[in-house]
Formats: sequence, structure tokens, C-alpha cells
Amino acid sequence: MGAVINLQIEMGKTFHIGLETLVAGKSPAAERSEFIAAVPKRGTFYLETFGCQMNDHDSEKVAGVLLSRGYRQVETIEAASFVLYNTCSIREKAAQKVFSRLGEFRDMPGEPKKIGVLGCVAQQEGEKIFNRSPWVNLVCGSASYSKLPELLTQLEAGETRVTGLDTDTDETFETEMTRRDNPWRAYLTIIEGCDKACSYCVVPFTRGPERSRASDSVLRELRQLAEIGYSEVQFLGQTVNSYRDPSAEKMEFSALLRAAAEMPGMKRVRFMTSHPRDFSADIVAAIEDDERICNHVHLPVQSGSTRILRVMQRTYSREEYLGKIAMMRGAKRPIAISTDIIVGFPGETDGDFAETLNLMEEVKYEAIFAFKYSPRPNTPAQKMEDAISEEEKSRRLGVLLELQRKIQTEANEKLIGQPFEVHVEGKSKKENQWSGRTSCNRVVNFLSTRSNLLGSYVAVRITGATPNCLTGEHAR
Ligand code: SAH
Ligand code: SF4
Ligand code: F3S
Repeated sequence: MGAVINLQIEMGKTFHIGLETLVAGKSPAAERSEFIAAVPKRGTFYLETFGCQMNDHDSEKVAGVLLSRGYRQVETIEAASFVLYNTCSIREKAAQKVFSRLGEFRDMPGEPKKIGVLGCVAQQEGEKIFNRSPWVNLVCGSASYSKLPELLTQLEAGETRVTGLDTDTDETFETEMTRRDNPWRAYLTIIEGCDKACSYCVVPFTRGPERSRASDSVLRELRQLAEIGYSEVQFLGQTVNSYRDPSAEKMEFSALLRAAAEMPGMKRVRFMTSHPRDFSADIVAAIEDDERICNHVHLPVQSGSTRILRVMQRTYSREEYLGKIAMMRGAKRPIAISTDIIVGFPGETDGDFAETLNLMEEVKYEAIFAFKYSPRPNTPAQKMEDAISEEEKSRRLGVLLELQRKIQTEANEKLIGQPFEVHVEGKSKKENQWSGRTSCNRVVNFLSTRSNLLGSYVAVRITGATPNCLTGEHAR
């Protein structure tokens, strides 16, 4: 019998952890308490996560390892004997945040705590973190989480500076335990790292080269998730559609999506982030053929100017990108498309920026994440000339967001009166107010007098729209 772990811990959430057979609620209580009793009692930990969904999911694995080792999770730094930050380095502000958090420990009164820095800043800065913040005890990048048990043993034995800084390992996928935060939608990383080398980006340095997880291992975890009641999964990867099955199966990415959707119990399969270069017609066909594959694609464009795209080393032109959009807009099922855009890349002229705005008008994205360019260590773009001033970056960002607001307002207003199936994920403090997502990843807040809708799929008729949100009511 594998470990059966469904811990109801004091924060009031139910956590599903463990990669072996997990049948929440079905395992005898005695077995569960036996498992809990067998775990030695250690300290308390506080874990805070910055950055992308891959980091969120990594933290679920890290928390799983700590819980299974007997640490208890707490919600404040004060209550913790071990403080961990899972960090992001994508823009300078994100990285700075980490160092300002670490600075808070310089003169902190009371018992000294163990401090751990995980994730992308840890990988990027390595042992330099010990020089800048000598009170840090653990520096560990994402590729080394499978080694966490060993690293924790060293810390528990009294070592004060412990590191895990390998970048090229594929042992990261199957950690012993995963404690998922969301009881309805599960993250599952299918490809780690990135080989694309965009000239502005730190990810290839912080997460190492691309490594895909074997399809049978992905599907095995998915089956376990379905067995404990998950009906929605989100496949993760910085370039999720560059997935290359390393096993003899050689399953294509689109075939993996189809297999996941066919898993008994699965109602929704999402994936994020897709790279335009590897975005192919078979992915669109899979979405067309199986309604359980969500009709939302996040396809970052970064710029509408082919000249800038070339300097960014994005490996596609504006026209090639628009070709992928046309493929989706022509699909038999409507597909919602979102994107990421960088404004103020070195050398971006008014003309280049106008091309980005013009591309947005043409595509009419359902959602956009836009960022001011931030120079990052070790990247080729850091040394490029023709930097754009902060003021001008802010101005361009403002113009872009205003245009998108207009596009989203118009698009969302057209949805009034339409029905959507909403997977309910939250309940507001206001009476009878619920919220959830559509398959196309729109957030819908709606009214229903029914009780206990959390986790269920509900037919909702849209009654109102703002640029970022839809409102509706339970359709009967
Ligand atoms: N792998 C994804 C996204 C990775 S990071 C992709 O290839 O698109 C998420 C977003 O952060 C990027 O899409 C980009 O828009 C933004 N980003 C990355 N590096 C940046 C930098 N140096 N400055 C500003 N934004 C950046
Ligand atoms: Fe960064 Fe480009 Fe890789 Fe995305 S594809 S993670 S932007 S290097
Ligand atoms: Fe940030 Fe690392 Fe994700 S740099 S965006 S946490 S991959």
C-alpha cells in the first residue's frame, strides 16, 4: 500500500499529497493517522512564492516535501522556524523584492530562523546570496528540488550554508510529495527549462535547458489526480508546446492533450505557455475535436514589429505569428487568445510600437499581459544600445493598456446574454455570489442561491461585462 495522505491541516485546507495511490476520504482513518504519527515532528515553515505558475507549482512540491518530513506550515514569518522564498528573476523589480525581504532579517529580534532562497533568483545568483545576506542558510534552484530531502538533512544536522544549484537534471518532475493549493484545478509540469534564448530573458539561465517528462509519467499522475477528484488540469511549461516525449511512446504534445482529455473524470485540460514557433495545426485540431481541451491559448507575441522580433530572437516574423492566429480564428470552436507584450525594448521606435498596437487591433486578444522592458543580467539585450527612457516605456504601456481596455470592453459586452459553463472555484463573502472560470479562461462572477457549488460545473448566463470580468446568473 502506498502512502495515503490527505492531511487536513490547521490552515483549514485539505491537502492532497503524494504521488502514489491517493484516494482521498476513502482510506481508513486509522491508516491516515498511522502515517501522520510515523512522521517525526520538526519545526514550522513559512513559504512565500513569487513569479509564474511554474513557481506556484514548484512551491506545492516543496511544501509536500516539508510536510512529509514533519514540518508544519504556518501563515506568518513570526510563527516560523524556517522561512522560504521561492523567487522570480524575470524583471528587476521581482528580483529586488527578494533582496528587500531578505534584508528584513538583518536585525530581526527573537530566535534566529533558518532562511531558504529557492527558485530563479537562487539559481541565478547562487552562492553570491550568502555574501549579500549572510543569514541565508539554503540556496536552491528549481532543478534541485528532488534533492531537497538531502539538503534538509544537512540543514537539520547544523550545516549553515547548503546549496542545490544543478540546472540540467530531469529528476524534478516526480518529487515524493506534492501538496496542491487548489482542490479543483491541478497544475502539472510537463516540460522544464527553455532552449529558446530570447535575447531579453533570464529563464534559460534560471531553469536550464528544456527537459520533457515522459508521457506515461504525466498520465500516471493525471490518473491519480482524477482518482482523488480533480476534474481540471493545467499542463505547465515555459514552452509547453515544445514538449518532446523522451520515452519510446514519442507522444506528440497534441496527442498528450487528447489522452489527458480522455482520462476518466477529467473535464478540462489547459496548457500554458505556448511558443509561436512550435504552435502547430494539430493543437488546434485537438481543441476542435475534444471539448474537454480548453478553448484558450496563451501565445506571447512580445512585439508586432518583425524588426524588433528579430532582435529579440523570437524566431518568427509578424506575418508568421499572424498565420498562427488565423489558424485559431478559423477553428470550428471559438478559441480565446491571450498574449504577453514587452514595451520599450532597446531600439523600439515609435513606428515599431505602432506596429504592436496595430497587431493588437488586428488580433483582438481576449487578454494581454504587458511589461516594460527590464534589462537582465547575462542576457544579450542587456548590452544593447538605444535604451528607451523609463518615462517613455510608461507612456507606451499606458497607451497599449488603454487600447486593450477598449478591445476587451467591446468583446465582453458582446457576450451579454450568452450561456457559459463555469467551473466554480470561489465563493465571495457577499451572499449567493460565486466565481469561476469558463473553458476559454474568462473569470465569471455570478449569483446563485444554491449551496455548495464549489468545484462543480454550472451553467451561467452572462448579464454584465467590464473589461476584465463578466457577471452572470445561474441559468436554470
Ligand atoms: N515562456 C514564455 C514567457 C516567459 S516569462 C514565452 O516565451 O513567452 C513571461 C513574460 O515576461 C514574457 O512573455 C515576457 O513578455 C516578459 N518578460 C520576460 N523577460 C522580460 C524582461 N527582461 N523585461 C520585461 N518583460 C520580460
Ligand atoms: Fe524566455 Fe523566450 Fe524561453 Fe519564453 S521562450 S522562457 S521568453 S527565453
Ligand atoms: Fe520568474 Fe522564474 Fe517564472 S524568472 S517568471 S519564476 S520561470
